[in-house]
Amino acid sequence: MGNYKIAVIKGDGIGPEIVDEAIKVLDALSSIYDISFEYEELLMGGIAYDITGDPLPQETISKSLNSDAVLFGAIGGEKWDSLPREKRPESGLLRFRKELGVYANLRPAVVYDELVNASTLKPEVVEGVDLMVVRELIGGIYFGEPKGREATRAYNTMVYSVEEIERIARRAFEIAQKRRKKVCSVDKANVLDVSQLWRDVVNEISKEYPDVELSHMYVDNAAMQLIRDPKQFDVILTGNIFGDILSDEASMLSGSIGLLPSASIGDKVGIYEPIHGSAPDIAGQGIANPIATIASASMMLKYALGEVEAANKIDEAIKQALKDGYRTKDLADFDAKEICSTNEMGSIIANYVVKS
Ligand code: IPM
Ligand code: MN
Repeated sequence: MGNYKIAVIKGDGIGPEIVDEAIKVLDALSSIYDISFEYEELLMGGIAYDITGDPLPQETISKSLNSDAVLFGAIGGEKWDSLPREKRPESGLLRFRKELGVYANLRPAVVYDELVNASTLKPEVVEGVDLMVVRELIGGIYFGEPKGREATRAYNTMVYSVEEIERIARRAFEIAQKRRKKVCSVDKANVLDVSQLWRDVVNEISKEYPDVELSHMYVDNAAMQLIRDPKQFDVILTGNIFGDILSDEASMLSGSIGLLPSASIGDKVGIYEPIHGSAPDIAGQGIANPIATIASASMMLKYALGEVEAANKIDEAIKQALKDGYRTKDLADFDAKEICSTNEMGSIIANYVVKS
């Protein structure tokens, strides 16, 4: 138990509203456990560009590296879309991930029993889904060189080294060992050399984890299987861009992208953030769903701080709130007993944390 230093990056759009609710829930933990949090708010994204001219000020990097974990809201918005690429909020985020060395992006997709009807897929297909996408986050085509744009052509390079594949594969196998012990590695080895290397290295690493069952799937097939029969998956291990796409797809199994958290971890400080974006169209209205961010705070407790009991407490409180019919507007049509605002949802979950 301890006193933890949390770097807080609220960002743009709904970022500030949802992060405030996660902080409310974290602080509620202090009244039942011997844990306390010290928050330091840092600038990043469009707001950082507006204030400092840089979407990722140096101070944000150094202070984040000096904290126990980074709790992150969301960044970006149309307002900054026409800036040169390196000034855009998204470039700031990519640089941030790289600076923190967070090579493993964990994106769980869980279907809450209370919300099986919220998915666009049939309830019998999604009921009980509990999978985790482990996405490589600081390599692949997002960062590969050479890249460039000329008058009539442009190019990016998908590149992975053996070492980059080894470390992400190990993470995936370790995670699977604590779950249902299955890893499905997703690539495009029938076409891409980089994917053939990926497959070869994953096969090698799998020998270190004989208790975990490994399978391979081409990314096009995986996209199809995720909708056809998502329950077949436990851990999906994949590269940066395939993981970007598949994790958005997986998020819809649960009915609302407003529910799903993520953790980005490496060997230094991790970033904990909802998988959804900054939703500028609904910012400031108090209707955003804070659950994904609250669940991200729970992942932070578990993966960064080792406070597993406190993390479980938050997860239970989220489930209880959903079970009792509390819904933000995105889920209003699914067995809602009471529609609540962003702020009310945060308070309800914080109350369950204290009282349950
Ligand atoms: C994500 C986002 C980012 C990504 C963008 C905003 C750079 O889509 O976190 O999935 O592509 O990684
Ligand atoms: Mn994405």
